[in-house]
Amino acid sequence: MRKLIKMKSKEPITMVTAYDYFSAKLCERVGIDAILVGDSLGNVVLGYDTTLNVDMEDMSRHISAVRRGAPNTFIIGDMPFMSYQASDEEGIRNAGRLIRAGANAVKLEGGKRVAPLVSKLVDAGIPVMGHIGLTPQSVNQIGGYRVQGKDEDSYKMIEEAQMIEEAGVFSIVLELTIEETAKAITESLSIPTIGIGAGRYCDGQVLVWHDLLGINDEHVPKFVKKYAELSVEIEHALKHYISDVKSRTFPEEKHSFRRKEK
Ligand code: KIV
Repeated sequence: MRKLIKMKSKEPITMVTAYDYFSAKLCERVGIDAILVGDSLGNVVLGYDTTLNVDMEDMSRHISAVRRGAPNTFIIGDMPFMSYQASDEEGIRNAGRLIRAGANAVKLEGGKRVAPLVSKLVDAGIPVMGHIGLTPQSVNQIGGYRVQGKDEDSYKMIEEAQMIEEAGVFSIVLELTIEETAKAITESLSIPTIGIGAGRYCDGQVLVWHDLLGINDEHVPKFVKKYAELSVEIEHALKHYISDVKSRTFPEEKHSFRRKEK
């Protein structure tokens, strides 16, 4: 956590989501600064339309898998919908479960509304990452996935960021936010901002694993840069496998176990 804070205005922070052992292992191998086990798990792994169906069991299971793959990387675990909204006490207990599952810190969505909980978590020794701008757990209230921090609400967003910094978050994710607003927030805080669809001036960037690698072949938002087209590669490999099995080209002798000759 201290390393990430120190990187502000010195070196951009790289963060990526991961949900399983092998993806975590690859992140650690290439030196990603932080892994987010996001509740986007609901969309890209479990196939739901929103993140609202993800629960504590899902998050705990995937955080522990990621920890096994990346034993030395800073891991942030998302607090799922309804794990902290009902009461602060429940939020503290659930945050503790994610830390026990292997996270170094938890992330929760919201500004002023979550500031009292943030203070209590920090008092309990749990590092917290904030998340403002588009907050997918409030999609029904916001009325869809719209860009945030436009003229009329940019000042409010800056204030919300300052309130959660004061409450003790060590970093804030800015999602789907007007670039100028994200820049103003970044300049007004002493902790790092991590952008996703928030333009060029955040202290770091995060992308969802399946978007970055082109595994997601459905709608990909404008802010995503695909660094590979793995869905094409995987499709190609699977077709090759089907054809090999159908034509009895696979398995070969080298893939087979034979009785030892006497
Ligand atoms: O769940 C997630 O992947 C996230 C990122 C979009 C920041 O919260």
